[in-house]
Amino acid sequence: MQIREATDADWASIRPFLQEIVAAGETYTYPRDLDEPTARAMWMLSAPSRTVVAVDDDGATVLGTAKMNPNHMGGASHIASASFMVDPAHAGKGVGRALGEYVLDWARAEGYRAMQFNAVVESNVRAVALWQSLGFEIMTTLPEGFLHPTLGYVGLHIMWRKL
Ligand SMILES: CC(C)(COP(=O)(O)OP(=O)(O)OC[C@H]1O[C@@H](n2cnc3c(N)ncnc32)[C@H](O)[C@@H]1OP(=O)(O)O)[C@@H](O)C(=O)NCCC(=O)NCCS
Repeated sequence: MQIREATDADWASIRPFLQEIVAAGETYTYPRDLDEPTARAMWMLSAPSRTVVAVDDDGATVLGTAKMNPNHMGGASHIASASFMVDPAHAGKGVGRALGEYVLDWARAEGYRAMQFNAVVESNVRAVALWQSLGFEIMTTLPEGFLHPTLGYVGLHIMWRKL
């Protein structure tokens, strides 16, 4: 697997699994009926933010994607954030972990002092465990912060780690 900067040409590969994940409505606070132009603008970031893709070794298949950006502006612009989408067809193969390590390296290299995830759905146990294994702590949990399509109201974690 390699991780490289996403190009406009990658959007056609990212879009189907990104919209599948968003439409499922279990892991993100995006509108479940997110339209294509909004999804593209939201995900395909430019400097100083960055969007990358994880591709297989021959570079032909996009396995997952991450975007990374300042979490706040002004006096809190030293805190980064990031978001992740791994194609469900390629889940459980280490793509999410590799992207997580990548964004932490990026944030350190860019001089950020911490990284924060603003809305990690409590029932997304795979993601929560992955972020904890990468050094993130649950700083607080917003009670009933997220309406899950089958579980009802669940908590929404703010996760953070110092860099
Ligand atoms: C969360 C997500 C990024 C994880 O990506 P992934 O490529 O499947 O994860 P990895 O293969 O790197 O596995 C990460 C950990 O999850 C666990 N895991 C993997 N497959 C699993 C499975 N089928 N069931 C439960 N846990 C599993 C493992 O403990 C693994 O840890 P390890 O590296 O110590 O073995 C991915 O599932 C995803 O994009 N989900 C939808 C969107 C989302 O939730 N984004 C994050 C929002 S905060």
